[in-house]
Amino acid sequence: TKVTNKHLLTIHDRPMIEYPLQTLIDAKITEILIVTGTEHMGSIVSYLGSGRDRNVDFTYKVQKTAGGIAQALSLVENVCTNSRIAVILGDNLYEDNFRDSAKDFEKSDNGNMLFLKEVADPQRFGVAEIEDGLIKNIEEKPKSPKSNLAVTGLYFFDETVFDKIRGLKPSARGEYEISDVNQMYVKEGRVSFKIFDGFWSDAGTFESRRRAEEYVCRRGLEHFLVKNGD
Ligand code: G1P
Repeated sequence: TKVTNKHLLTIHDRPMIEYPLQTLIDAKITEILIVTGTEHMGSIVSYLGSGRDRNVDFTYKVQKTAGGIAQALSLVENVCTNSRIAVILGDNLYEDNFRDSAKDFEKSDNGNMLFLKEVADPQRFGVAEIEDGLIKNIEEKPKSPKSNLAVTGLYFFDETVFDKIRGLKPSARGEYEISDVNQMYVKEGRVSFKIFDGFWSDAGTFESRRRAEEYVCRRGLEHFLVKNGD
């Protein structure tokens, strides 16, 4: 995507980023901070604007280098003081509505909540190993996955997430991995999770984008975009 931002490529009739944004809005999250690279930042801002037309508030941060999701998250610390936050990846499409999960998380003593989905190709994702109903371990893109449960790109975190990120080291691929952050919560015994029912896909590869598009077209946009009537 030399001339545009990947998240502005379309899935069916609208840019990819519309889907994860709607997932946040459906969960009643309306203060939204978008982190994006320097290339094509202008097109993201000119497409999304202030958010006033959607009754949400967009602000923006620039991630200078591709240092991973956890590094991107570290950039928002000064805006998210003392509050629980949701993080969603710009190429993840969900059919489910997570409003109840967000409410549960706000009341919970756990420090994070993860959303797991059975997949055929777990090697491509963060993978959760579950024992006795609890997450025992999370591995990023394991060669020999211990389960087929992908940790998908929606995460709820408490305010300790930023201290955890400060303790990270870059992975073999040179990134600050969100899976390593999640693993810290696992070690503290403060992680909760849901295995959700509806369709989910990332759309960051040719194949996954095509799969996401086929599903949206077949199922109809209303299943993805008009869930919060009230
Ligand atoms: C990222 C995360 C991975 C997660 C995936 C979901 O992978 O690192 O844990 O399962 O998003 O889409 P990446 O997009 O870097 O391949």
